[in-house]
Amino acid sequence: MANEIKTIAVLTSGGDAPGMNAAIRAVVRTAISRGLKVKGIKRGYMGLLNEEIVDLEARNVSDIIQRGGTVLGTARCLEFKKAEYQKKGADICKKHGIDGIVVIGGDGSYRGAQALSRLGINTVGLPGTIDLDIACTDYTIGFDTAVNTAMEAIDKVKDTSSSHERCSIIEVMGRNAGYIALWCGIANGAEDVLIPEKYDYNEQEIINHIIESRKKGKTHHIIINAEGIGHSTSMARRIEAATGIETRATILGYMQRGGNPTAIDRYYASIMGAYAVDIMLQGKTNRVVGYKNGQFVDFDIEDALKMEKGIDEYQFEVAHLLTV
Ligand code: ADP
Ligand code: F6P
Repeated sequence: MANEIKTIAVLTSGGDAPGMNAAIRAVVRTAISRGLKVKGIKRGYMGLLNEEIVDLEARNVSDIIQRGGTVLGTARCLEFKKAEYQKKGADICKKHGIDGIVVIGGDGSYRGAQALSRLGINTVGLPGTIDLDIACTDYTIGFDTAVNTAMEAIDKVKDTSSSHERCSIIEVMGRNAGYIALWCGIANGAEDVLIPEKYDYNEQEIINHIIESRKKGKTHHIIINAEGIGHSTSMARRIEAATGIETRATILGYMQRGGNPTAIDRYYASIMGAYAVDIMLQGKTNRVVGYKNGQFVDFDIEDALKMEKGIDEYQFEVAHLLTV
């Protein structure tokens, strides 16, 4: 059960994601509308430990909903995994009159929130990651923008790949998850999609597929390779040697994490930001917000961290069916 809430803070943690600013804005403005004071903690848990804490008014979050990145900054703070620093963080919150924190980040960030909650600071987590790899939710802030950015880049590579009758391996982000790759595989009409959840490392099968496609008259062969598999450049060299078809690798990299958020990311992040404040005011703590079956929902962080999610078999099958 939460303590009485008068002041809340918001921080972003882990990798940034487009839409985080929309979530920050929604947290700040919902809290102010509900009569609370709001503070921003810069640079994630690192900024908390360094007391980089600023007051936020409604006007401080003007003109940010359309911007990528996070105006609060973010960091990976390994110290915060240690109990002594978590205690220091909770003490700093108490010193600044912070009763609750909305933490925007991924699973790692929720563990930090869980620690603070155990130390008497109310916490709610929001799913902020381009990877879509948070089990308790079908939507994560930033995924839609990242997929659209990757899709547009892959369309461009496909143009030149077709002109030169080449094979192209395009590596997309996602850490150990293949969601960005799968979505691009379908949205870009790729010939092959390699994702860590499914790939059996049978490169000969890919080589055979490239040779067959060429015989059938396809002028290009696009392979979307997930970051979790990686090694795109050496794979390209091997494929070129085995097929005799010019093969190039493109690693899209950090461009996928930036850029103006799509309408979906602005919309969902805004609702989630408001929802986080409202459940905290209802007395909930140690919670994480998700979107499941068309509804905004929240789970205990402990339960959320135990959940598992995988790639949908049927969707993966369709990605391959459509390349005939
Ligand atoms: P994400 O939140 O996207 O999963 P990380 O795993 O890098 O990204 O975690 C972000 C930050 O959350 C870490 O740098 C650290 O400050 C904090 N964190 C991660 N794991 C823990 C943990 N077990 N206990 C406390 N804090 C943690
Ligand atoms: O979690 C988002 C993400 O961009 C992953 O896709 C990628 O593996 C990782 O962050 C890269 O992290 P860093 O910014 O620490 O290089």
